[in-house]
Amino acid sequence: MFIKAIDSLDEGLNIFWSDNSSSCYPWFWLRDHSESEEDLHPDTKQRQIDSFSKPVNNNVSKVWVDEASESVYVKWTNQLQSCLSFSLLKSMADPSLPQSNSIKLAKIWNTPSEINAFPEITYQELMSDGGIKTWLNHIQRVGFALVTEAPKTPEATKELMERMAYIRNSIFGGFSVWDNKLENPDDTAFTSLAIEPHTDGTYVHDAPGLQTLHCIKRDSIGGENQLIDGLAIAEKIRHEYPDAFNILCDVNIPGRYIKPDTYLEAHRPLFRVNDNGEVIQVSFNNHDRAPFRLENDLMGKFYDAYKIFHNLANDSSRQIEFMLDPGKVLTFDNWRLLHARSSLTGYRQLCGGYHNREDFESKLRSI
Ligand SMILES: [Fe+2]
Repeated sequence: MFIKAIDSLDEGLNIFWSDNSSSCYPWFWLRDHSESEEDLHPDTKQRQIDSFSKPVNNNVSKVWVDEASESVYVKWTNQLQSCLSFSLLKSMADPSLPQSNSIKLAKIWNTPSEINAFPEITYQELMSDGGIKTWLNHIQRVGFALVTEAPKTPEATKELMERMAYIRNSIFGGFSVWDNKLENPDDTAFTSLAIEPHTDGTYVHDAPGLQTLHCIKRDSIGGENQLIDGLAIAEKIRHEYPDAFNILCDVNIPGRYIKPDTYLEAHRPLFRVNDNGEVIQVSFNNHDRAPFRLENDLMGKFYDAYKIFHNLANDSSRQIEFMLDPGKVLTFDNWRLLHARSSLTGYRQLCGGYHNREDFESKLRSI
C-alpha cells in the first residue's frame, strides 16, 4: 500500500491509500506519534515529545508527503514539525484496541501425528550462526523443541539457555541442577512420583514463559515426559463445548504454593484470551489449585468444564512422549503446552530453568 493523496480536514489528516481505503488520523495523534529525532529517541524509540503538559497548538501550517523518505510531514503554526513514516501510518490504518499477543503462527496439534516436521535441532546447529532462529521458530510453531547431541553437562545446558536470554529466577532458584533423591523435596517435580499434565507457575502472577529440561544422568526405569498442546484443547472446547469454554475464560482459578515461610498465590482463568477472543495463555495445575467456592449452580458448571479440559489433557492420544536421555535438551512453551511425567524407579539428575515469556517474544522479534 502506498499513499495516493492526502486531505487536511478539521478533525485530522485524511490519507487515501492505494487500495482505495482511507484513514483519518487526528491532529493530536499525529503530533503525539511523531518520529522525528526530537520527538522520538532514534535509538531507544522512547517518546521524547511532551504531548500533555503544555496547551497543544494543533494549527497546521503545511502538510506534505515526501516519497523519498517515505514520510508524512506536518508543520505546525508554532514552527514545530512532526514526521511520521509510511510504515507507522500503514500499521495504524485501522483503529483497534491494543491487543496482547496471541500465540501467532502456532500450528496446533491434537495428536503427535499432526506435528509435521519434528522440531529438532542439533546442539552444534543451535550454537552456530542462525541456529537460534530455527530453535525459536520450532518452539513458536509447535510449542517445543528438542536439542540433540548436547554436551551432558549443566554448564553446556546453561550456555544453551543463555543463547536466548538471561535465565529467570523463581522460588526454585535460577538455573538449577537437581535429582530425585532429595531428602526434603519441596515440589513433586523433585521426586520419582508421576505428575499429571499441568503448566508451571499457576501460583505466580507471571507464569514462566518457557521451561528447559535436560536429564544429564539417567540410571532409571520410567520417568517418560509427556507434552500436550493446550492450545489445541482450547480450540476443541471452544467449538464443541462453547459454554464450558466461556466458563474457563471467566473464572479466575486460584493456584497456590506453600512451604515453610512461603505462601504464593495467584489467580488466572484456565484460558486467558485477548479482546479478539484469541487464546494467549493456558494455565492448568490441578495439584496446585487452591480452594474456592462459586454459587452452587456455577460451581457445578465449572466442575463440568474443568473436567472436560482435564480429561482431554489426560487423553494419552493427545500426548507426545519422550524419554529425556542425556544429550537431549527439551524446551517448551509453558503458556501453551502442558507437561506431565510418568513415575520412575532408579536415579536421575536433571538441570534446567525458565525463561520469561517476554524475553522469548523479544528474541523472536529481534533475530
Ligand atoms: Fe512442571
